[in-house]
Amino acid sequence: MKVVLSYSGGLDTTVCIPLLKEKYGFDEVVTVTVDIGQPPEEIKEAEKRGKKYADKHYTIDAKEEFVRLLFRLIKANGDYEGYVLGTSLARPLIAEKIVEVAKKENADAIAHGCTGKGNDQLRFENVFYQYGFRVIAPMRELNLTREWEIEYAKQHGIEVPVTKEKPYSIDENLWSRSIEGGKLEDPSFEPPEDIFEWTASPAKAPDEPEKVEIYFEQGVPVAINGERLPGLELIRKLNEIGGRHGVGRTDMMEDRVLGLKARENYEHPAATILITAHRDLEKLVLSRRELKFKKFVEEEWAELVYYGLTNDPLFDALNAFIDETQKRVTGWVRLKLFKGSVTPVARYSEFALYREELVSFDTTAIDQKYAEGFSRFHGLQGRIYREIIKKKE
Ligand code: ARG
Repeated sequence: MKVVLSYSGGLDTTVCIPLLKEKYGFDEVVTVTVDIGQPPEEIKEAEKRGKKYADKHYTIDAKEEFVRLLFRLIKANGDYEGYVLGTSLARPLIAEKIVEVAKKENADAIAHGCTGKGNDQLRFENVFYQYGFRVIAPMRELNLTREWEIEYAKQHGIEVPVTKEKPYSIDENLWSRSIEGGKLEDPSFEPPEDIFEWTASPAKAPDEPEKVEIYFEQGVPVAINGERLPGLELIRKLNEIGGRHGVGRTDMMEDRVLGLKARENYEHPAATILITAHRDLEKLVLSRRELKFKKFVEEEWAELVYYGLTNDPLFDALNAFIDETQKRVTGWVRLKLFKGSVTPVARYSEFALYREELVSFDTTAIDQKYAEGFSRFHGLQGRIYREIIKKKE
């Protein structure tokens, strides 16, 4: 019997390797680490450990595919309750990659290290079940403590990662870094500065603001400050620039799919910069009615991603609408980064629905007298209503 395990290299998933043999009776464990832009050291470490402790290991590079999903997210201004959806969007992609290996390996089951309290179990399993695999979740089924895991790891000759007493649960990819657990579980406890790795403290960020110009083509970012860059590099570069200025921190209460509220901290400089710029450009080129309706579409879109329900037909329908609106989202936005803030300061598009000669204080392109008749009708029903109730007083 063979099982394919979604593998991060951490203590939980490493302990799963002997557990799958001893408690679940598998003869062979194949580990799979999917690269979606985690720090390269983390990928290397996972590969090293997978090769050492499992019977076979795969490292799969899905960075380019993840970037394509992120382009979708940017078009949809992806935002769930203020969260930029990095982990959420990545899970179904990781799951698809695991399934590919499981098929190739003719595996009898797929295992993952998610607990029974979070969203990730749902996002993963929706894909695993789609392909008819038996699913095993040792962390959810066995209720293990960290102490027990460390002891068990030692008994099985597994090196316990010597990270200096890691009190938090971290999940990181190209788009965002999430920090939860430990003392942060108390919402009244302020996050200490040392939980952050991507962003400088806004208070200690440079005293000089930095300007950055983002170019979009049909809703997709293609260049920074005039330099065309492939998506992966563009996002990495903005994480770096934004991080330096303390841009993109979120400390929030989040509603998980199961109904539990959770206290979450995130870092996501590129996400904040790109979505801020993209929204600004949309305001220049989309009509008022498009903008109003798209907000509602975006909310549904984000919820489907958060819930791991991107296989729902509604997701395709929403994307079709979004793509239609993005045909004109071409142009640039200049932003000012300063001590944690991102502010659009200039924008341009050949598709702008804005006309300076119409709105300007300094031109007579439109005869203002035309507004007089409009104004006679504007608010008519309200005026009638006020008249009526005044009479009844
Ligand atoms: N709350 C976020 C989500 O559900 C991030 C979860 C991160 N996972 C983790 N194991 N730290 O998408």
